[in-house]
Amino acid sequence: MSRRLFFALWPDEAARVALAKLSRKAVRGHGKLVADANLHLTLYFLGAVDDEQQACAERVADAIEGSCFTFELARIGHWPKPKVVWSAPAETPNALITLVEALRAGLSGCGFTPDSRPYRAHLTLARKVGRPIPETSHKAIRWQVDQLALVQSITHPTGVEYRPLKFWGLRGAG
Ligand code: 2AM
Repeated sequence: MSRRLFFALWPDEAARVALAKLSRKAVRGHGKLVADANLHLTLYFLGAVDDEQQACAERVADAIEGSCFTFELARIGHWPKPKVVWSAPAETPNALITLVEALRAGLSGCGFTPDSRPYRAHLTLARKVGRPIPETSHKAIRWQVDQLALVQSITHPTGVEYRPLKFWGLRGAG
C-alpha cells in the first residue's frame, strides 16, 4: 500500500494561530484557505511511497544532524501560476538550507528525485487565489524549529488532512 508523504516543519500553536489570522486578512474570501491544522512548511515532497521507501526515508531522517533554529516568516505574496498565497522568510536561514540539502542528498540514496527547481522556503496559506496580491512585509511570525516531521497527506471526502506520522528532534532541542 502506498501513502502520499512529505517532510515538513510543523509550526507551533502560536505560529499556527498567527498564520491563520494573516491568511484570512490577506485573502478576504478569495480562493481556498489551507485549514489551520494543515499549515506547514514543506522541506521535501516524497509523493506516493510504499513501506520500503518509507522505511528508507525514515532512516535518512534518523541520520540527519540538523540544528535547532529560530524561523521567522516576514513576507507575504502570491504566485499566479500555482495560484497560491504564501508566507516566506525575508531570508532563508542557513540551518534550513542545510536541512533541505541533507534530506535531498540522503533521499537520493532511496531513489527519490528532488524537485529540479531550487528550494524556495514558503508556507502555503491559501490555494486557488486568482487575484494577485502584491508581495509585502507582514508582522513577523516566529517559531523555534526543534524538529522535522514526516507527514501523510490523506484525502477525505471533506477535504485533505495532513497528518504528522513521526517527528525527529534537531540538535540543541531542550
Ligand atoms: P505547496 O504548498 O507549494 O503546494 C503537500 O502537498 C505539500 O507538499 C504542499 O505544501 C506542497 O507544496 C508540497 N509539494 C511539493 N511538491 C509537490 C507536488 N509535486 N505535488 C503536491 N505537493 C507538492
